[in-house]
Amino acid sequence: MNKHPIALAGTILFLFAVAGVGLVALVHHQTVDRIVANEREALLRELTALVPADTIDNDIISDALTVSAPERLGSKETLVYLGRKEGKAVAAVFTTVVPNGYSGPIKLLVAVLADGTLGGVRVVSHKETPGLGDKVEERKSDWIHSFDGKSLENPLLAKWGVKKDGGIFDQFTGATITPRSIVNAVKNTLLYFRDQGASLFHSPGA
Ligand SMILES: Cc1cc2nc3c(=O)[nH]c(=O)nc-3n(C[C@H](O)[C@H](O)[C@H](O)COP(=O)(O)O)c2cc1C
Repeated sequence: MNKHPIALAGTILFLFAVAGVGLVALVHHQTVDRIVANEREALLRELTALVPADTIDNDIISDALTVSAPERLGSKETLVYLGRKEGKAVAAVFTTVVPNGYSGPIKLLVAVLADGTLGGVRVVSHKETPGLGDKVEERKSDWIHSFDGKSLENPLLAKWGVKKDGGIFDQFTGATITPRSIVNAVKNTLLYFRDQGASLFHSPGA
């Protein structure tokens, strides 16, 4: 007969508690690893939709740098992914923020090819109104593809606006604010690339 049943029960409880905490820590660790891997995969899918994998030979996710140009790129710090082939510049993908969406900031990926033309633009996140401003999503309409292949020469700078403002880009019926703000942000990203693009690729690469 055990003389210290309470001490024994306490010890057993303690051991269960330690095992439980250990198990939770292990599952947490594995889950975090999985989430990081999934996020990386999703980002790579988004980037390669804009900069095809066969046009670059570097690790575009690791070959990134942070720049600060809030007036052009919409936030204090902007991550830029660099695509290269044999060390030569192929594309810069900007994580541009549209500061003045209808319902708040809109996050973009803006891919600018080395010659200053757009590889494409995608809306990564937004809070625009379903049925009005959300047509900027690729899965809702083709509108975002109107940027493909455009540059500061095509159309000329004065035409970088929605049709209502004398530009070439469509607005949506009853929703001009969202497309207007995105057209402006993409134009500003191209202006940044025109002025600073070459210096981005001075970094050693990955
Ligand atoms: C409830 C509500 C939600 C709206 N959501 C948006 C929106 O997401 N994007 C947008 O551009 N305009 C939105 N609008 C319309 C804007 O207030 C504004 O009228 C419109 O963008 C101006 O475009 P228009 O000149 O073509 O009318 C919304 C209006 C209302 C009443």
